[in-house]
Amino acid sequence: MINLEGKNALITGASRGIGRSIALLFAEYGCNIAFTYINEDQEAADITAELQAKGVRVLCIKSDAANFAAAHEVVKQVVDAFSKIDILVCNAGITHDTLLMRMTEEQWDDVLNVNLKSVFNYCHAVTPQMVRQRSGSIIAMSSVVGIGGNAGQANYAASKAGIIGLIKTLSKELGGRNIRANAIAPGFILTDMTLALPEATRTEMIKIIPMHRYGETDEVAKVALFLASDLSSYVSGQVISVNGAMG
Ligand SMILES: NC(=O)c1ccc[n+]([C@@H]2O[C@H](COP(=O)([O-])OP(=O)(O)OC[C@H]3O[C@@H](n4cnc5c(N)ncnc54)[C@H](O)[C@@H]3O)[C@@H](O)[C@H]2O)c1
Repeated sequence: MINLEGKNALITGASRGIGRSIALLFAEYGCNIAFTYINEDQEAADITAELQAKGVRVLCIKSDAANFAAAHEVVKQVVDAFSKIDILVCNAGITHDTLLMRMTEEQWDDVLNVNLKSVFNYCHAVTPQMVRQRSGSIIAMSSVVGIGGNAGQANYAASKAGIIGLIKTLSKELGGRNIRANAIAPGFILTDMTLALPEATRTEMIKIIPMHRYGETDEVAKVALFLASDLSSYVSGQVISVNGAMG
């Protein structure tokens, strides 16, 4: 029932983790993939080959999602190569965790720029194209802590809460143009981002997850697939939690 044949997706931050799983799952359903990343050249080359092996077109671009002009340049490159963009997944994100009292201005700015301003950058660049197409699905990666907050993550939680406000607003501005915008709020998903947490923190986290386990990246990707496809044709302005009943 799900068919993304002939569709084109642009995914930010897909060299690893959740973005990588989304790219691979979309490609399973025939979707051409353009993706960005920031540092991981080898991983980006590996996933490019993996995607190509699935028979879809692939465009891999190293680009800082926090940079407004660079985001617009990426979108131009994708439109030049693929002619249209049906699905935008704003997934790129970072953490710089510490208590607010100890947080530097740079830690605040970096996280807000990479996590929240990047969503503005890409939505700003892609939506004129989607308006011309009179269709599009925008998906942004929020977080359980964007809904409930978390000690030690004031910058991250604020950025993820900001995404929800931005996406809900976009869904209202563009609903009449047949463009949908939704957010996903993952809980604790095992990726390089969460593996960087101390072992003790990870063990504590398991205790507060009612399903008593971490989420897998493909469990988030499956929700992104639903939001990208026609299965969710009347779903817009929503935040879908993928968190094992946490929060
Ligand atoms: N892992 C979790 O438990 C979890 C929970 C909730 C939300 N999220 C969100 O999901 C998204 C993916 O997280 P992940 O765990 O897969 O992270 P990850 O660290 O494994 O991967 C992050 C990806 O973003 C890219 N990236 C980072 N900074 C970038 C920049 N400035 N420009 C372009 N790309 C950039 C990296 O190249 C990489 O591909 C993030 O937005 C994260 O905040 C993750």
